[in-house]
Amino acid sequence: MSLFATLLAVGAASLASATPLQGRQVIPNYPPNELSTGFRLVANVTDPATDLTPSVDGWELQGIHTGAGLNDAVLTSETGRIFYHNGTASEIHYALGSILSDGGSPPFPYGIYVQTADEFDATYPAEHDVTINVGSGTIGVSLLAFPDPYFYFTVVRFAYDTFNNATAQFERNVPAGCTAITLIPECDVLPDLPEGSLSSHQFASPSKCYEDVSAINWPEYGP
Ligand SMILES: *[C@@H]1O[C@H](CO)[C@@H](O)[C@H](O)[C@H]1NC(C)=O
Ligand SMILES: *[C@@H]1O[C@H](CO)[C@@H](O)[C@H](O)[C@H]1NC(C)=O
Ligand SMILES: *[C@@H]1O[C@H](CO)[C@@H](O)[C@H](O)[C@H]1NC(C)=O
Repeated sequence: MSLFATLLAVGAASLASATPLQGRQVIPNYPPNELSTGFRLVANVTDPATDLTPSVDGWELQGIHTGAGLNDAVLTSETGRIFYHNGTASEIHYALGSILSDGGSPPFPYGIYVQTADEFDATYPAEHDVTINVGSGTIGVSLLAFPDPYFYFTVVRFAYDTFNNATAQFERNVPAGCTAITLIPECDVLPDLPEGSLSSHQFASPSKCYEDVSAINWPEYGP
C-alpha cells in the first residue's frame, strides 16, 4: 500500500521572488549534478523543525486520481512520477516552459497546475491547490535555472508569499500545520513513448538534476 500525504507545503510562489545573489562576489558551491530529460521531484523540508509526522523529507511528488484526467498533487513515500521540462530553449530560458508527465493509454501529457492567488482550494478555502491534470500545466511552473544555487522547483500548494510593506520583502506564508518544502529533481529515465501517443517528447528539454537527492549533505554546500 502506498502512503500519501497531502502536499501541505509551499515554496515561493513566483520565480521572480527568488532572491538574487547580491553584492559581494560569491564562489558557488553546488552539489554535483547531472543532465537528464526525465526526473522525479523529491521534497526537501527546508525547516526540519516544522516537518510533518511522519516526516515528508525525501518523499516524492505524485498524483492521486480524482476524476477523468484529474489528479491531486500529493507526496508519496514510494517512487513518484517521472516528469520532464517542456519548452523550446528560449521558453526554458525565460521560465515560460512547463513541467509535464505522461499518463493514460495511449499516453497523453499531464501538466502541473497551480491556482492563482485569487483561486482557492475547495477543501482548504484559505489555500491554493496544486493538481496534475491533462494539458500543458501552468506556464512558468518550472525548474529554477542557474545561477540560483539549486535547481529546485518552487511548489506552490497552499500559500503564496506575501509582501511586507514595512520591510519591502516577500515573506513566506506557511499556514499552521504545514511545512515548507522545495521540490528537487532527481534524475530518472524518461520512458520512450509508444506508437500512437498523444504526448510528444520533441520539446522535452535536458534538465539539471541530482543522482540521489537524499544523499546530499546540505551543510556542505551553499553559495
Ligand atoms: C534542503 O533542506 C535543508 C534542511 O534540511 C536546507 O538546509 C537546504 O537549504 C534545503 N535545500 C534546498 C535547495 O531547499
Ligand atoms: C511543449 O512545448 C512545445 C514548444 O513550446 C509546445 O508546442 C507544446 O504544446 C508543449 N506541450 C504541451 C503539452 O504543452
Ligand atoms: C502596502 O502598500 C500598498 C501601496 O502603498 C497599499 O495599497 C497596501 O494597502 C499596503 N498593504 C498593507 C498591508 O499595508
